[in-house]
Amino acid sequence: MKLCVIGTGYVGLVGAAVFADWGNEVVGVDIDEKKIKKIESGEMPIFEPGLEELVLENIKAGRLKFTTKLKEGMKDADIVFICVGTPQGDSGQADLSYVLGVAGEIGKNLQKGRYTVVVTKSTVPVRTNERVKEVIQSVAPKGVKFDVVSNPEFLREGYSIEDMQNTDRTVIGAQTERAKKVIRKLYGHLESPIVETDLRSAEMTKYAANAFLATKISFINEIGQLCEKAGANVQEVARGMGLDKRIGTRFLVAGIGYGGSCFPKDVAALSRTSLDFAYDFSLIRGVMRVNDLQKHSFTSKIYQEFKGEALGGKTFAVLGLAFKENTDDIRESVAIKIIHLLRGRGASLRVFDPEANENARSYLGDVGIHYAKDAYDAMKDADALLVLTEWKEFRELDLQKVKKLLKNPTIFDGRNLLDQAEVEGAGFKYHAVGKRTNAYHGTDVKSALLPK
Ligand code: UDX
Repeated sequence: MKLCVIGTGYVGLVGAAVFADWGNEVVGVDIDEKKIKKIESGEMPIFEPGLEELVLENIKAGRLKFTTKLKEGMKDADIVFICVGTPQGDSGQADLSYVLGVAGEIGKNLQKGRYTVVVTKSTVPVRTNERVKEVIQSVAPKGVKFDVVSNPEFLREGYSIEDMQNTDRTVIGAQTERAKKVIRKLYGHLESPIVETDLRSAEMTKYAANAFLATKISFINEIGQLCEKAGANVQEVARGMGLDKRIGTRFLVAGIGYGGSCFPKDVAALSRTSLDFAYDFSLIRGVMRVNDLQKHSFTSKIYQEFKGEALGGKTFAVLGLAFKENTDDIRESVAIKIIHLLRGRGASLRVFDPEANENARSYLGDVGIHYAKDAYDAMKDADALLVLTEWKEFRELDLQKVKKLLKNPTIFDGRNLLDQAEVEGAGFKYHAVGKRTNAYHGTDVKSALLPK
């Protein structure tokens, strides 16, 4: 089929490349000419494993093209995908200006005598696709035939190609059988189930999925808080819980809270949507509150360790700046928030991330921060080591080398990434999340109700 993909962010660029790889003729459209030029020359705007190769291969095979001109991109397209951003607005709502702006442009460029399916892949609140349809209808030439479809994307950054190729399911929300048939043809070769539904249910599915995953994370973070106080171990509890197939082991890793371009924004938007419908979704407000507190619980361990709240004169080595492993994305990264908190109290930082150093530098600047060339460079003469992103390579640190480089053998592991027995055995004071370590600061609660 002929496809036009509007927007070359994560969803759009990965989507365009994967659709082309499936044998479709794809044109990616973006208003940013510089970005388009870079992509064409093989320079990806984001770090995403396997993306560069996939884009170049499909350009070479003649199946993938890019343009800044929507009219050109939409020429003879069977399906037009909207993959532009829906950033968080001032009161938590999703800002739909890009989506609706693009809908208007699509409307003007629909061809007479052709049936086109307009698919929204951007994450949009329930009922948005009906607005997309209205906007298109209001500007489209008379008699043009089109349908709108909601087809949310569930890919994870860092694994997006794999996630698109081997998705757990495809959700297609549509108003007509004709539209569903076109989209089914695109995804029909995948082995996973296709969920066919109405527009509103498809839109809601995306928010429900992200909010549920965020709930899992906040839930295990609260269990972690309790484990630490009660002398239990959150990692073992998560394993014991997760092996129940109804629960599942994934997304039960306690840490410093979730970040990224999706969870914080989508959870806030769902909360806002519930208010728009005069419903108080109290659980989701709890999820957000727990997530916000989690980083403070982590930094309070640092303040306690260094006795007092002003950290002037202290230097911390930080491993990990991206919001998670395998990406250079620092949007809503909790690591960056923690750096802000520590710098705000006068601390200096020596930081390292395998991919996100440059993005962090352009956001945080250089004041009080040294961007290290590798993990060990970050540790030189630091008062303690902070592990803030779950990059695999940080699991394999040479602990003897770490000990020699740090001023004090003290580690705050915000992701429970390191092996507690090894770290403590190597003579470190080890702070972790949701379990007692040799650095446990809490005091046992004295309650008449607790068993002796
Ligand atoms: C998420 C969804 O997983 C994906 O389906 C959706 O399309 C977009 O949003 P992404 O933002 O790429 O994907 O990251 P994800 O891997 O889900 O992690 C989100 C955040 O949660 C990260 O900050 C990560 O460190 C944190 N996390 C994840 C935990 O703290 N614990 C976990 O167990 C899992």
